[in-house]
Amino acid sequence: MAKIYVTCRVFAEEIERLRAAGHTVEMRDHLGPISHAELLMKITTAEALICLLSERIDAEVIAAAKNLKIIANLGVGYDNIDVKAARTAGIIVTTTPGALTEATADLTFALLLAAARRIVEGDTFVRAGEFRGWELIGPQLGLEVYGKTLGVVGMGKIGTAVARRGRLGFGMKVLYHNRGRNKVAERELDALYVPLERLLDESDFVCVHTPLTPQTHHMFGRQEFTRMKDSAILVNVARGPVVDEKALVWALETGEIAGAGIDVYEEEPVVHPGLINLRERVVLAPHIGSATEATRRALAKIAVDNVLQVLTGALPLNPVT
Ligand code: GLV
Repeated sequence: MAKIYVTCRVFAEEIERLRAAGHTVEMRDHLGPISHAELLMKITTAEALICLLSERIDAEVIAAAKNLKIIANLGVGYDNIDVKAARTAGIIVTTTPGALTEATADLTFALLLAAARRIVEGDTFVRAGEFRGWELIGPQLGLEVYGKTLGVVGMGKIGTAVARRGRLGFGMKVLYHNRGRNKVAERELDALYVPLERLLDESDFVCVHTPLTPQTHHMFGRQEFTRMKDSAILVNVARGPVVDEKALVWALETGEIAGAGIDVYEEEPVVHPGLINLRERVVLAPHIGSATEATRRALAKIAVDNVLQVLTGALPLNPVT
């Protein structure tokens, strides 16, 4: 049967499903993404690859993958894969849409609230023994969330789930910007489709949910931050390079915007030192949008389902089109 290479630790029951179908599975039992050199070596004989979104599956890897039929990416974004090269080589690419929508929307709101209400600063303050009791004008006065304006950039599944939380849970007015209209969000959530400029002008919270493409690369730069309210907070749980990180540090340092909740970075796992140094209303997470146990199990299951389908000659369940 087929040889499957898995670049990272995956839940044992999913590996078992592959083996039970008669396949040979090699799982790299190390933390962190595989190096490009190791991947180039391992890929030569594999017929299926299960990999992380933090691993670059470029034209060189695809050229080395002489027997490969499917690349099953563990995650919804697939900007790490040269899809065109894969298609030319007749390799199917699959993703995990849907499974992580709610978990990622939850994290978006966690970051939004944490930055607005200065939760991490408060935690540090309490642990340092500096809490002196309730004060009217205390050290961590934050920003109101309820009833404010939420700007959603990228109104796909995750953007809509965030808008739903904002509208139904926090009474927010929802503005959105997207490649096309999202009638469901407009109908259900009174979301208003606006040009990006208006969204930036009017939103108290701007949440980024676009995929990374050549069009969205550095979609947020100095000009966009200048346009945003001085009191606004940016939340990015999409992809780091959608935001020019240097410009973000500048905007936070100069007060062009008030804060940020960031889960993704331009050069992961490297984080701009300017961001690390900023603590006031700036909350940093280590790319954990989908990181609940249930969701990560669901991602692994979807990737394995796709591999099993393709290796039996059936159509993939979640192909990148
Ligand atoms: C996470 O960032 C994903 O794309 O699944």
